Amino acid sequence: MEIQGADNMRLEGKITVPGDKSISHRAVMLLGISEGRGSVKNFLRGADCLNTMACLRELGVEIEDSGTELIVHGRGLHGLKAPKEPLDVGNSGTTMRLMAGILAGQGFTSTIIGDDSLKRRPMDRIAIPLRKMGALISGVDGDYPPLTIQGGALEAIDYALPVASAQVKSAILLAGLYAKGETRVRELIPARNHTERMLEFLGAKIVVEDNNVTLAGSKLEAQDIVVPGDLSSAAFFIAAAAALPGSHLVITDVGLNPTRTGIIDVLREMGASIKLDKVVQRGGEEQGDLVIRGRRLQATTITREMIPRVVDEIPVLAVIAGVAEGITKITGAEELRVKESNRLASLVTELSKLGVRIRELPDGLEIEGPNKILGGQVESYGDHRMAMALSMAGLFSDSPVNIRGSHCISISFPGFDQVLKTIVK
Ligand code: S3P
Repeated sequence: MEIQGADNMRLEGKITVPGDKSISHRAVMLLGISEGRGSVKNFLRGADCLNTMACLRELGVEIEDSGTELIVHGRGLHGLKAPKEPLDVGNSGTTMRLMAGILAGQGFTSTIIGDDSLKRRPMDRIAIPLRKMGALISGVDGDYPPLTIQGGALEAIDYALPVASAQVKSAILLAGLYAKGETRVRELIPARNHTERMLEFLGAKIVVEDNNVTLAGSKLEAQDIVVPGDLSSAAFFIAAAAALPGSHLVITDVGLNPTRTGIIDVLREMGASIKLDKVVQRGGEEQGDLVIRGRRLQATTITREMIPRVVDEIPVLAVIAGVAEGITKITGAEELRVKESNRLASLVTELSKLGVRIRELPDGLEIEGPNKILGGQVESYGDHRMAMALSMAGLFSDSPVNIRGSHCISISFPGFDQVLKTIVK
């Protein structure tokens, strides 16, 4: 993919973005183990969520797909069937970690496999607590994928998360549905809470107090779920529009769960004009419209406490920091090294090629702006968020920026380039 900006270029128009990735995964997984039939509207048809859907089907869940909505025929907590083949989750860490929680409670053995990027992602973070609950789990060389999970009778645990991770929290809670006793997860810094909210929406016995989540094993009742637009997908356009003077962009029906809205707070801190409109609560999740006006932005500081609320937005924030005035420092972000690529290293290598003064810290980044963004060829590392962040850098360059391997964008944002084309003015 090649992107080039121009003098006075701006982003203008009214758009929607595809469904939220985190909520789409959870919708088919949780409806798959619910009692009864539930629908999912605005399901994200990105590669990751399609893999989740395929896994559930492999486990015996019937899912009808009319093209506009899914109908999931829940099999209840104990109705899944042993898969005939290994479950292939492709690039999706969320699928592997959340499914591991569900599979830990089944009376059969299953194997989860994934692509080369996933094989480098640590699974000990879920294997350790799930083993404490009674599952037998084996991975490769210290719990890297593939994972083989022998499920069985589980005991509840009280677990303090050593990393701020919604995926780990969710794996434990999902296993907790099958456990004897009350499962408690304690968080130091709260990560996204879509699992808790959806469990509650489906009737689970779940209590959230301070930073602790407590769940008692209980059955789930199917409901109809409408997935809001993915704020993490909108983030690319929000950030670019906020930093391109003259822009006026409206993004409708975006998820605004407060555990996800760090991107709005950080950009406002940088001086951005972002207004929320028509905010409503639907199925346990906030959603609304965003109105963004472009202006010159200032540097900012992002520290550990904020990271879980912007964890997927650091690539695009690094790009925007590159054109903002001053030194932006991001710390407490070592988790970015174990995402779809080592995002700290990838950002430093690729943004340096485009003329950005950027330095890698052991746990973050330091970026000095403003920089004139140069043209050139950059790598996506097969990482969808790297590819989209680098394409936003192209909007600030008067020479072409060519992103190699941009097909990976379809993992989370099918149709990204068409949406972009309609708003570049
Ligand atoms: C996700 C949680 C985050 C995020 C990922 C999706 C989820 O990962 O980076 O894209 O859906 O639970 P961690 O919880 O591992 O930080």
